[in-house]
Amino acid sequence: MRRATAEAGINIALVKYWGKRDPAANLPDVGSISLTLSDLVTRTTVRFDPALERDRFVLDGLPRDDARVVEVLDGVRAIAGVLHRAAVSSRNGVPTASGLASSASGTAALATAAWAAAGLDPAAAVDDPRFLDLVRKGSGSAPRSLLGGLVELDKERGRVHQLCPEGGWDLAMLVARLTKGPKKTLSRQGMAHTKATSPYYAPWVAEHPADLEAARAAIAARDLPLLGAVMERSTCRMHACMLAADPPLRYWRGRTLDVADAIEDLRAQGVGAWYTMDAGPHVKVLCAAADAPQVRETLSALVPPDDILEGRPGPGARIVGEGP
Ligand code: DP6
Repeated sequence: MRRATAEAGINIALVKYWGKRDPAANLPDVGSISLTLSDLVTRTTVRFDPALERDRFVLDGLPRDDARVVEVLDGVRAIAGVLHRAAVSSRNGVPTASGLASSASGTAALATAAWAAAGLDPAAAVDDPRFLDLVRKGSGSAPRSLLGGLVELDKERGRVHQLCPEGGWDLAMLVARLTKGPKKTLSRQGMAHTKATSPYYAPWVAEHPADLEAARAAIAARDLPLLGAVMERSTCRMHACMLAADPPLRYWRGRTLDVADAIEDLRAQGVGAWYTMDAGPHVKVLCAAADAPQVRETLSALVPPDDILEGRPGPGARIVGEGP
């Protein structure tokens, strides 16, 4: 058996995914479009080992029990006909379970490394429905981290395709990290609760294809003001849908809105910058790479320098090391 190490970047949704039509297969009710980022990456090594009696998982130096890791490994074992347990070690460049999408980069890196360590071809993985199924079951947004740049995930079959390669548009995404702890409601539970109780869920799903269409057109035309506007609209619609749940689901904090206000003010001064939030209080800001210093300066007034993270469009999940 071989050892393989894979790296995958986090991805931030511009047109959001929230809600599932098939929770067991983890198939979404809506498609989504995201940007895969460089710099904010998870690096994972998998080694199948005949001497191990159970799977071992170490995250950022600490041993963990994680059913989702075992599920991904089981999926790869079933496809490759591998029986051995695995030693998995993973390093996250982003805080785990804090709404910063580390579960997507983590699942993409784990599945890619396990696939290669089991002797399967990682280059063919992204077109293999069995691989996509197991990545999506780990995390619904994870298939988007398999590809670089701007990526669309289709809701029907859970396929991913690239809308713009990482070198195709000089964008930047800055993250204002507003808390370090884990998020209060995991996306999975939050989605089920929203779908079950929010009267805005059906309209959210009904209006969603128009946002996808507008984002595709904006990307094809490299029209950042249009893409930014669609991203803010999709963000606010997703959060409105959660806020209308019973009881309401609110990931925003006061500081979340302070940062969003500051970005709107910056835009009023002529700098193209747009905000988005996911299942956590953090604010991510999309802008042209050339405007990143000005966005950083604006964020610096509200957030300590160590809590401002920055990424550029990055590559999809890939193997960065292999050995016996
Ligand atoms: C708000 O992919 O974390 O970030 O499929 O249950 O694992 P599961 O959820 P997850 O949800 C991401 C939701 C989001 C929006 C997005 O990334 O599209």
